[in-house]
Amino acid sequence: MENAPQVAEPRVFGLEGHAREFFRDELGFLERTARLGDVVRLRFYHKRVWLLSHPSLIESIFGLRGSLRKPLSMRTPIQRRLFGAGPLTADGEPWRAQRAHAQPALERLGHTAPVIAAATERQLASWRDDEVRDVHAALQELALRVVAGALLGLERDVDLEVVRALTVEVRALHAERSRSRVAWGLDSFLPTIRHRSLVARIDRLDQLVNERVEASRRGSPTTDVLARLVAQPSSPGQLRDQIVTLLLAGFETVALAVGWALELLARHPTEQRSLQAESDRVLSTSAPSDEQVASLDLTRRVLSEALRLYPPNRSTARETTDDLAVGGLRFRRGDQLLLSQWIVHRDGRFFADPLRFDPARWTADRARALPRYAFFPFGGGARACPGRSFAIREATLILAMIARRFSVAPVAGRPAKPEPRILLYPASGIWLRLSKR
Ligand code: HEM
Repeated sequence: MENAPQVAEPRVFGLEGHAREFFRDELGFLERTARLGDVVRLRFYHKRVWLLSHPSLIESIFGLRGSLRKPLSMRTPIQRRLFGAGPLTADGEPWRAQRAHAQPALERLGHTAPVIAAATERQLASWRDDEVRDVHAALQELALRVVAGALLGLERDVDLEVVRALTVEVRALHAERSRSRVAWGLDSFLPTIRHRSLVARIDRLDQLVNERVEASRRGSPTTDVLARLVAQPSSPGQLRDQIVTLLLAGFETVALAVGWALELLARHPTEQRSLQAESDRVLSTSAPSDEQVASLDLTRRVLSEALRLYPPNRSTARETTDDLAVGGLRFRRGDQLLLSQWIVHRDGRFFADPLRFDPARWTADRARALPRYAFFPFGGGARACPGRSFAIREATLILAMIARRFSVAPVAGRPAKPEPRILLYPASGIWLRLSKR
């Protein structure tokens, strides 16, 4: 995009502006809007919202230092109570400090193949031959066990239930947003029944996190990752925000990546057989190692293709904190910029036959030929996902271990349908027929 890009400005009437259609059918609205051009200026109530759908523009936005912050939905009182000034929600200097603080711990998280393998074995032990199962629910439980185990050493079901119950409530709050923005606003800002129930669940999680931090300080066995976090200078609040953020950011996304990959494999038996052959070959011993995970090339390509077609974060939003000129465009302070993985990942200019599941797109030379931000499931720039390499290793190992033991097939009348809530969830699970191999 050499010259100043054309700006499409679809007309809209009424108080809500385009927000009405957006919240009624987000993915459909984004698709219709992106057809108008790479730059579309919309209005949500009084706010200007820009849908920017070209990789070079996305690169310019991610390349900005300063002048951007997370949107209001991440800064409500309930979000602040939940994530505090953790790396996901903080801006400016507090964010920088949190990212630096998280880094050593995340490096340790990358080497947890035994924890992942043990949790996967445990989950697979309850899977039966010829059963129909919601693999999304199963994977959420598994990914929670992995991150809670690797981060805090939590293993007991009662402790995992504390996190699970909280995420169920957070999801319900977000689901409200498309049904009734008034209810969402009240629950996010004021002590309504839902708000108080959420706060009580957050209190319970805080208590659990504090117990683990204290145990680590006393030298009781917890985890390496926690020991690294605790060893660095930080206030109790910072530490708590850091841990809660990693815990909550670190499991539903991974469960979705593996879940959508299984759904795609169920509909593509040839690719499924190739992936099974790879996992049979590589995971030959009973205890998978980090090196083995690194050589599961096809499994990783299948995951990339799942992240392309069903990115758990289907859009990344930012709000401008100053008037700004970028890539030939002029934004005003308070404008919202929307960069949508859902749109760009399905753009035929960058991905031939874009709706086709084709793991071969991710061979090294083909992937290298793509524009930098044609594929950005982990976001980009300074705020790109710090859990990326852990997430990829974890998802790769889980998918390969499943493929080694089970084949999956679609269930008639139950196709998984993506539904945007906090993340891109399957509307009513991912139901697949399992057969033991
Ligand atoms: C497939 C799995 C995952 C996907 C697709 C994913 C995706 C993303 C994306 C798109 C962002 C950027 C959000 C934005 O710019 O607004 C992000 C940020 C973040 N992710 Fe992940 N993530 C995954 C797994 C994980 C894991 C396993 C962890 C930690 C254990 C993690 C921790 C974080 C944190 C702390 C941030 C905030 C970074 C910042 O703002 O500086 N993520 N993730």
